[in-house]
Amino acid sequence: MMSKKILNLSFLILTLTGINAAAVETALGPKLGRAASAEEIARWEISVMPDGKGLPEGKGTVAEGESVYMSKCLSCHGPKGEGASADQLAFAQMELTDDWPEKTIGSYWPYATTLFDFNRRSMPMQAPGSLTDEETYAVTAYLLYLNGIISENEVMDADSLAKVRMPNRFGFIDVYEQEKTAK
Ligand code: HEC
Repeated sequence: MMSKKILNLSFLILTLTGINAAAVETALGPKLGRAASAEEIARWEISVMPDGKGLPEGKGTVAEGESVYMSKCLSCHGPKGEGASADQLAFAQMELTDDWPEKTIGSYWPYATTLFDFNRRSMPMQAPGSLTDEETYAVTAYLLYLNGIISENEVMDADSLAKVRMPNRFGFIDVYEQEKTAK
C-alpha cells in the first residue's frame, strides 16, 4: 500500500516538473538563433517571377554586360560563355533531342527573367549576391546577346527583360496539366 502511494507521488512530481520544463522552453524558444530583422528579410526577398514580377529598377546594356562578364565570369565560364571549368552558357551545337544535348541559356532556359534571378542570387559562384542590379541586368543582356536572343543595342530593364521570348519557352511539359487531364 505504502509503495503504491510513493509511486503515485513520484508520478505527480515528474508530471509537474515536466510541465514546468515545457513552459520554460516555450518562453525561451528552442534557442536556434534570433529573429531576422526587417532589413535582412528585405535583402533575402529577391525572387523574380517568370512574368517579371519582382524585377528591380535599373537597366543594363550588352556592352556593359561584356565588361562585367570579362571581370567576373570569364574565369569559370570561358570566353563568350563557351564553357571552361563551369557550364557552357551559349553556342549550343546539339539540340535537346540529340543523344548529347547541350543545355545552354539559349537551348534550355524558358524565361529570361529567371536568368536575371539566378545571376543575381548565385553568381559569381565564389561571391553570390555581390552583383548590383545594374550589373545583373547588364550581364544578363550580354548572355542573351551571346545566345542570339537579343541584338547588340538592346537595353535590358524590368520592362524589356520580361518581354524577351526564349527559344525553349514552350519546350517544357506541364506535368500538373497532364495529371489533371489524365483523371
Ligand atoms: C568560380 C567559378 C564561377 C564564376 C566566377 C562564375 N560562375 Fe557561373 N557557374 C559556376 C558553376 C560551378 C555553375 C554550375 C552551378 C550549378 O549547376 O549549380 C555555374 C552556373 C551558372 C549558370 C547556370 C548555367 C545553367 O544553364 O545551368 C549561369 C547562367 C551562370 N553560372 C552565370 C554566371 C555569371 C553571369 C557569372 C559572372 C557574374 C558567373 N556565372 C561566374 C561557376 C562560376
